[in-house]
Amino acid sequence: MNILITGGTGFIGTHLLRTLSASQNTIVLLTRGASATSAMNKATVKHLHWDPLSRGAWMNEINNCDIVINLIGKNVFEQRWNEKIKQEILNSRIIPTRLLVEAIAQAERKPRLLISASAVGYYGDRNNEILTEESSGGNDFLAGVVQQWETAAYDAEQYGVRVATPRIGLVLEKNGGMIGKMLLPFRLFAGGPIGSGKQFLPWVHMDDVVRGIMFPLENHQFHGIYNLVSPNPVSMNEFAKTFGTILYRPSWLPVPDIALKILYGEGAKVILSGQKAVPAQLQSAGFEFSFSALHTALKNILE
Ligand SMILES: NC(=O)c1ccc[n+]([C@@H]2O[C@H](COP(=O)([O-])OP(=O)(O)OC[C@H]3O[C@@H](n4cnc5c(N)ncnc54)[C@H](OP(=O)(O)O)[C@@H]3O)[C@@H](O)[C@H]2O)c1
Repeated sequence: MNILITGGTGFIGTHLLRTLSASQNTIVLLTRGASATSAMNKATVKHLHWDPLSRGAWMNEINNCDIVINLIGKNVFEQRWNEKIKQEILNSRIIPTRLLVEAIAQAERKPRLLISASAVGYYGDRNNEILTEESSGGNDFLAGVVQQWETAAYDAEQYGVRVATPRIGLVLEKNGGMIGKMLLPFRLFAGGPIGSGKQFLPWVHMDDVVRGIMFPLENHQFHGIYNLVSPNPVSMNEFAKTFGTILYRPSWLPVPDIALKILYGEGAKVILSGQKAVPAQLQSAGFEFSFSALHTALKNILE
């Protein structure tokens, strides 16, 4: 298959590309160019420079691809939020997605599938309400971003393209994301839950994220919105306790809301709020998680 991917240099993209490039796929990676990793096999992955906010020659590449995978987006924890950063968080998702769809519209030969990342941030802060793909959206900044991001992707349907948007949860993997941030304090006996501890974490193991993103590739009827989260979300308290147990460390030192608010401003809400999201669509389509229990997932990652 010919696959065009954005965000392939990122946390999830690097893992996905490793799997995709191990099979007989031809891959074009659109990148701003600065962060291409050495882990990537440049023999099987063609790197193409693009400005994700502008039209350009890259748009012609769509003619040659069967599948588009769109994983681009400024990391929401990269910087403390202010109006400028919020605009960048929005623009880095909406503009490239719209441009990809514009390129699809212009292409003589259209791809058959667009997989465009989304996030459980769609639901906003929902305490312990069980959230399926049918649940309503939230009304905070991130929820608004995700709603516009998904709408931009579904515009491709009018050109006969099958569209799938995984609402990705909190991805667990050793060298990055939340685990990357929690490891050091726990190792120094200073770990604990973040915020109230009562918020639900829609966690998912990186292996399942990669398999879940690839699911519509292998299942030709599968499309639409799907929660890409484990079937067993846990509270932050339970998460910290399990984390500590596996590392043989206590988990009694909570990180107060205020510390997060100082670091991330309004962005702290992303981790202080909870979503008890479940993968209803994936499970009814027969997807089997490699890691559905938190203890097994963390043991696999941390040991
Ligand atoms: N990780 C999670 O837990 C999680 C959870 C829910 C949703 N998601 C979504 O899934 C997608 C992939 O996540 P990830 O964690 O792998 O993302 P990531 O590593 O933070 O970033 C993905 C890629 O986006 C590009 N990028 C970064 N900042 C940018 C900016 N300011 N403007 C334009 N492009 C920028 C970079 O590609 P180049 O440098 O090659 O251009 C980067 O490699 C993202 O859209 C993210 O929002 C992730």
